[in-house]
Amino acid sequence: MNDQGDAPDGASAGLVGQKEAREAAGIVVDLIRMKKLAGRAVLFAGPSGTGKTAIALAISQELGTKVPFCPMVASEVYSTEVKKTEILMENFRRAIGLRVRETKEVYEGEVIEITPVETENPLGSYGKTISHLIVGLKTAKGTKHLKLDPTIYDDIQREKVEVGDVIYIEANSGTIMRQGRCDIYAAEYDLEAEEYVPLPKGDVRKTRKVVQDITLHDLDAANSKTQGGKDILSMVGQLLKPRKTEITDKLRTEINRVVDKYIDEGIAELVPGVLFIDEVHMLDVECFTYLHRALESKISPIVIFSTNRGMSSVRGHEEMISPHGIPFDLLDRLLIIKTVPYNKSEQKDILRLKAEGEEIVLDENCLDHLAELGSKTTLRYAIQLLNPAKQISQIQGGAITIDIITEASQLFFDFKRSAKVLAEGGDKFIK
Ligand SMILES: Nc1ncnc2c1ncn2[C@@H]1O[C@H](COP(=O)(O)OP(=O)(O)OP(=O)(O)O)[C@@H](O)[C@H]1O
Ligand SMILES: [Mg+2]
Repeated sequence: MNDQGDAPDGASAGLVGQKEAREAAGIVVDLIRMKKLAGRAVLFAGPSGTGKTAIALAISQELGTKVPFCPMVASEVYSTEVKKTEILMENFRRAIGLRVRETKEVYEGEVIEITPVETENPLGSYGKTISHLIVGLKTAKGTKHLKLDPTIYDDIQREKVEVGDVIYIEANSGTIMRQGRCDIYAAEYDLEAEEYVPLPKGDVRKTRKVVQDITLHDLDAANSKTQGGKDILSMVGQLLKPRKTEITDKLRTEINRVVDKYIDEGIAELVPGVLFIDEVHMLDVECFTYLHRALESKISPIVIFSTNRGMSSVRGHEEMISPHGIPFDLLDRLLIIKTVPYNKSEQKDILRLKAEGEEIVLDENCLDHLAELGSKTTLRYAIQLLNPAKQISQIQGGAITIDIITEASQLFFDFKRSAKVLAEGGDKFIK
């Protein structure tokens, strides 16, 4: 997307052509950022191989890491152990983020010392144990040496904290966050892989605003683990219980209540994310009804569907024929974005991109040939031939030629040719 909100004519972000769908996707991204789409749904509809899944994933990249994006394939809901609606609900809640702002007591500063203090092992064996840890922190105003629990040493090693880094330690929980390297060292290396942060001002001990991003599902899962008493039997019971059934509706209602309270108090803020359901025609009537209701609830993400079906029957309700296999009432709520098949030059551009991505060297003739092949069969087939062609060329010890591509296409059939073989000699296969 450029500044005018149009998709650029050429390739960008690994996508080619499909201008209108990408422009629409760009608008969707803007609306999501402005939180104007919560509870709404978008449908990508178009023939197979026209980039629906690719565009949806591009949307997630565009949104960045701050907006939750939960991809799923509709057939995931069919499980023998867990209810369909339960899986839908879980993914729904994975797609709803919560930004929690808390003020916490922290120690913050540039690390000037990390010294594990060792004592003789009290059990009398060899080696030493760490009795406590001394961490020195420096700010613009002063320094402070903290005596810390040895378990924090593990966190320090995990976060790869070194002298010269800026960190903060939460006063009540001991959680360590590394913020970056102190900018005094910015001139140390030429490669700027590090994030440099200024030396903190004020005292070492201070109150700090901490922002955390979590999803509602994280909350559900975290709170479902601590159930049950402390006696052995209930602990064994917890081990045996499959984790998936632990999150109950009651727990969710409870969490919603707490979340509502936080939101009212201004501590937390909802971040509606995106739930992406690929191959949506695989859902059945029950799921659709459930989705419909969930979309209407107060807390709901943006749902993006994708399908390559035209008029087809709704699963579980075979006499109901409707566009894309989606019931009319739900269809009515959707913004539909169409994707169209690619022309030859777009196919060529896509093939070129894919070849570059896989570091496969192809000259223009070969690309033309593959694009030609792709338009006769499918784009996917042409893309899939890239790797076999590379392999053959390596065996022969030369560059990829048109002959090699032809050879690859003779070794690997596309579905039309395979169907033809079946039509001609199908009686030899087991029926
Ligand atoms: N505009 C594009 N630019 C670059 N690559 C593309 C583009 N469109 C599709 N592709 C590539 O073509 C292949 C097929 O695309 P994709 O998987 O998105 O199709 P789809 O529309 O989801 O098809 P289906 O309905 O069968 O799921 C992928 O490898 C994808 O990366
Ligand atoms: Mg797809």
